[in-house]
Amino acid sequence: MQLKQKILKILEENRGSNVNGALMAENLTVTRSAVWKNIRQLQKEGYHIDAVPNRGYCLKASNDILTPESIAPYLKGKAKHFNLDVRKSVTSTNTIAKEMASEGAAEGTVLLATEQTEGRGRMGRTFYSPDSTGLYLSLILRPKLDINESLLITTSAAVAVAQAIEKLTGKEVQIKWVNDIFIDGKKVCGILTEASLNIENGGLEYAVVGIGINVTTREFPTDLEKIAGSIFVEQPQDQPTTSILAAEVLNNLSDSMDNLTNHSYLSEYKKRSFLIGKELYVQKGNESKPAKAIDIDDRARLIVKYPDGTKEALSSGEVSVRTKL
Ligand code: BTN
Repeated sequence: MQLKQKILKILEENRGSNVNGALMAENLTVTRSAVWKNIRQLQKEGYHIDAVPNRGYCLKASNDILTPESIAPYLKGKAKHFNLDVRKSVTSTNTIAKEMASEGAAEGTVLLATEQTEGRGRMGRTFYSPDSTGLYLSLILRPKLDINESLLITTSAAVAVAQAIEKLTGKEVQIKWVNDIFIDGKKVCGILTEASLNIENGGLEYAVVGIGINVTTREFPTDLEKIAGSIFVEQPQDQPTTSILAAEVLNNLSDSMDNLTNHSYLSEYKKRSFLIGKELYVQKGNESKPAKAIDIDDRARLIVKYPDGTKEALSSGEVSVRTKL
């Protein structure tokens, strides 16, 4: 670890309190001026660090620059062993994580970014990912699952994210099947799960769960203005919100990914369902059929009922809610 990283780690562990410069230098077996030089460098990079003579250095509580060091203090259980790779701007965390997975990256490798220039959504859509107002991350998994059970990954990730957002914001969160997260009728998060199949055994070689959360994004492109929102109107200033959110999401994901096949999370999923009971259209290719969403089954499929009384269990595809005129 570079000296700058070591200093940042100490400041993160003492966030909001003063750390004596001389003591830090002694512990790190470097000179006080080496510590000072690195503090200056961190300040130039945007870290809010107070340097007070005779008191030391203090990383301000509100400092919200995403780094492995800023996330680590909030990780729990197995998530503590996740391998975090935080980058500033990337094309798409999913695209890069898939490359990493195919080159052998271990389960629990997480790529996070503060901006994506080519963020991708489901159905070939783009995902708007502006700088420093959102959280974009991809987790590599190597689950022992059959390809037709992969819906369980996506839906349990939706519950993990919903619970993390609820904990941080105290707001009511809903999940639109399959995995869009809504607050007050606006989409605040999308999840894109991509997997590679092992042809020999029909299982998954790896899966990449990509999560994009609008944290404080205020301005959206015109086509998203009416449908997209953010989890905060004003970001809390007394804590590193984005780092805590990342840690909460990862803590919940690590728990839920261990329990994928016991399906117990499905009641949490159903409880937050945005669709059950709603009139909607089921889109299949160019066809759009009216139906009513009546349930989600134990394989996370959406059960719809058509006007002629027939039912169908949907395991993929697109549905849109019918608005009453
Ligand atoms: C959707 O709403 O259709 C899914 C959006 C998923 C966006 C996330 S952001 C992190 C990861 N990287 C991507 O390019 N996409 C996912």
